Amino acid sequence: MNIQWYPGHMVKAKRKIQEDLKLVDIVIELLDARIPMSSRNPEVDSIVGSKKRIIVLNKSDMSDLAANKQWINYFSKENTRVILVNSITGNGLKDVLAASKLLMKEKLDKLKSKGMLVKTVRALIIGIPNVGKSTFINKLAGRGIAQTGDRPGVTRSKQWIKVSPELELLDTPGILWPKFEDERVGMYLAFTGAIRDEILDIVELASNLAGHLMKHFPGNLKARYKLEEIDPAMEPLELLKLIGRKRGCIISGGEIDIQRAAVMLLDEFRGGKIGNITLETPADLVQPVEQPQGQADAEQTE
Ligand code: G4P
Repeated sequence: MNIQWYPGHMVKAKRKIQEDLKLVDIVIELLDARIPMSSRNPEVDSIVGSKKRIIVLNKSDMSDLAANKQWINYFSKENTRVILVNSITGNGLKDVLAASKLLMKEKLDKLKSKGMLVKTVRALIIGIPNVGKSTFINKLAGRGIAQTGDRPGVTRSKQWIKVSPELELLDTPGILWPKFEDERVGMYLAFTGAIRDEILDIVELASNLAGHLMKHFPGNLKARYKLEEIDPAMEPLELLKLIGRKRGCIISGGEIDIQRAAVMLLDEFRGGKIGNITLETPADLVQPVEQPQGQADAEQTE
């Protein structure tokens, strides 16, 4: 299953981010904790350059604890802090605030020593569609969401959201798109719901997900759907049918309602009901994962 997604606006988006970067002190880059590599545009490092950065592993309520640690180690650098966040509950947001202060401490101290009382750090949020940018911004800003308005000479027409006396966010996040150089990137984005299902063959996608889970997370899949005796080499479509049968996705005549089974499996996976699962680890960057079978192209424009 080869999923493609042709954005078309990448050049424009990059230009906008480059302009916005001039206005901020730090960048807060959101990644999906379940697929930190696939939810990241590989050009982001060259776009952001040496600007200080916080990498937010968002949706960490659904990712795997051990994998989280590996990704934190992988991304952490002198100028980059990595923080696990759940933007729905707000878990981890305090750490984001603390990290933004810490990253800028040296600069703010320097300004203070020169008699300038600057306390506020300005940040730009960036990330691919659906990674949770709006949810993150709204939760961070909370009820106190306030736009501080134009600032003469510096940010004409730019709106800032005041999070606290110490942090302001540019109100329009920078949108990047993932790159589909590797077939699994499209698959993982589709599995996690980052690509609209309407453009995908849902049964094929869910079959692939069932096969992938059986291969890499058999314990989770078997426990969720009470699959005791099962041939690990079972065809993915057959596996999906079996899952459908177990869940009573049956149409009159005893046939499996495969469409319903597909939607159910995808929903449950995306809702974290099959367990806390991270689909890729830093080790996959050097050891390519085996490609799933079949071909189906899809396009999505943003
Ligand atoms: P975007 O601005 O980057 O495009 O993303 P947005 O905030 O709209 O979030 C996309 C979906 O992800 C939303 O689900 C949102 O509730 C969910 N989400 C964001 N952050 C988290 C998180 O930390 N944990 C969990 N579990 N979910 C999160 P949605 O409204 O249901 O949209 P959809 O999933 O139906 O597309």
